[in-house]
Amino acid sequence: MNKREFLKSAAAVSSFALLPNAAWAFQKGKKLRTAHIGVGNMGAEDLSAISSHNAVDVVALCDVDSVNLSKAHKLHPGARVFFDYRTMLNEMGDEIDAVIVSTPDHTHAPASLMAMEMNKPVYCQKPLTHYVDESRKMMKVAKEKNLVTQMGIQVHSFYDYRLATLLIQSGIIGKVHTVHAWSPKSWGYNGEEPQGEDPVPDQLDWNLWLGTSKERPYKEGYYHPGNWRKVMDYGCGTLGDMGVHIFDTPYNALNLDVPLTIKNDCRKSNGFGFPENNTVTYEFPGTEFTTKNLKWVWYDGPGMPPKHEDLILPGGKTSGGKQDKDGSVKDKISLDAGMAGAGELPSQGAMFIGKKGRLLLPHFMQLPQKIVKGKYVDISKEIAEVSKANNLGEPIRNYDSEGPKHYHQFVDACLGKGQTTAPFSYAGRLTETILLGVIAGRFPNKTLHYNAETAKFTEEEANQFLGGDYRDF
Ligand SMILES: NC(=O)c1ccc[n+]([C@@H]2O[C@H](COP(=O)([O-])OP(=O)(O)OC[C@H]3O[C@@H](n4cnc5c(N)ncnc54)[C@H](O)[C@@H]3O)[C@@H](O)[C@H]2O)c1
Repeated sequence: MNKREFLKSAAAVSSFALLPNAAWAFQKGKKLRTAHIGVGNMGAEDLSAISSHNAVDVVALCDVDSVNLSKAHKLHPGARVFFDYRTMLNEMGDEIDAVIVSTPDHTHAPASLMAMEMNKPVYCQKPLTHYVDESRKMMKVAKEKNLVTQMGIQVHSFYDYRLATLLIQSGIIGKVHTVHAWSPKSWGYNGEEPQGEDPVPDQLDWNLWLGTSKERPYKEGYYHPGNWRKVMDYGCGTLGDMGVHIFDTPYNALNLDVPLTIKNDCRKSNGFGFPENNTVTYEFPGTEFTTKNLKWVWYDGPGMPPKHEDLILPGGKTSGGKQDKDGSVKDKISLDAGMAGAGELPSQGAMFIGKKGRLLLPHFMQLPQKIVKGKYVDISKEIAEVSKANNLGEPIRNYDSEGPKHYHQFVDACLGKGQTTAPFSYAGRLTETILLGVIAGRFPNKTLHYNAETAKFTEEEANQFLGGDYRDF
């Protein structure tokens, strides 16, 4: 079905079903009327998780690809459908209570900010934005308007991550001076921008896909779907893909703000695709949980992390996990590193180094492990204590049952029950940190100095990458 045919068939259902139903439902049953921007791939997961909450009424669906839109519409035939999120928000304004943004990264901020300016709570996928200045703006608007917000880092609410946060904050390894974090994934592209133009598939509105980014000819297989992650104008490389998830717990546990310095040891990019194999060293100002300053090293790409004395496990193992040759890992929605065997370094994860030992946190759904002087230390007593004191309950390592909790937290908060745990006030700082590492990739091996107050680098040449021009589309 092409766009025109699809809209014609959808219009018949939507105009009849929406207006009276949604208004009635909100008053009587206090249902949250949700609008979803981007409903393919992760957007489909987001739609499923949000709509599994029994107080949600999906009233609007938007996608620039009619095949994805059509699939979502089959599941929610009462929802109105749109190709352009601006039309959706303008036409439906008062009939929408909350907006879910699951598009490629370059559209996160333009779509979210439009919704937020209309006072809508927003659930936005990670990383929060494509540019630093967008993150700052989203934090500011969320605060000024006191909006419920949540970033899509669903493992934030999982048992093992909450446990690791509490253990670190209880001082289980003393003040932390170094963190290593890694993923073998490789969202880079070492080639020139493709020349020429391919016919845009009938189902796709390429101009809307580009959105606020600059005009560019369509090329099959390079951008939509998914591969936009490799391209600087749209994605944020492996840092933006896996880094956000893996940074989240150490960042939260150590209560970090944005870094003082950033250096990315990688190949020079030609400005089109991201460099692969990034080793990004950050220096953060100290907090109550760290030494005076904290060193943080991120490694991505096949074979990562490299051999490092901080990463040697009891028994001498320095690697493990399940990596394919290209660095990919077997997973469900890009998250699961695959369980490392006993004594193996997980293929994705983080290691905290403190004054009283090391804490290994696999990504994900595995208990953190404490290591002191080359030996594992039994921390079952400490785990039981912090679990009990903080009502963590029993570990449930089932992604399907745990995943929706982060989304339901957002819905509940919109309905006035409780708060979200990854609001934009937190997600914005975390995303800014990620993006600074991405920008440092444009200046291989150069230490950049960053001022958190002004949100500017000392190195003037790097400041141009903190924001970007928006195209009228
Ligand atoms: N939290 C997680 O575990 C997780 C996992 C995967 C992806 N993600 C995030 O989800 C987002 C989407 O990733 P993906 O892998 O699904 O990408 P994708 O390219 O596979 O799918 C994006 C979807 O959005 C649609 N889309 C693109 N531009 C749009 C626009 N302007 N308006 C409406 N719809 C638009 C596409 O047609 C497609 O249906 C990214 O930000 C990614 O980082 C998060």
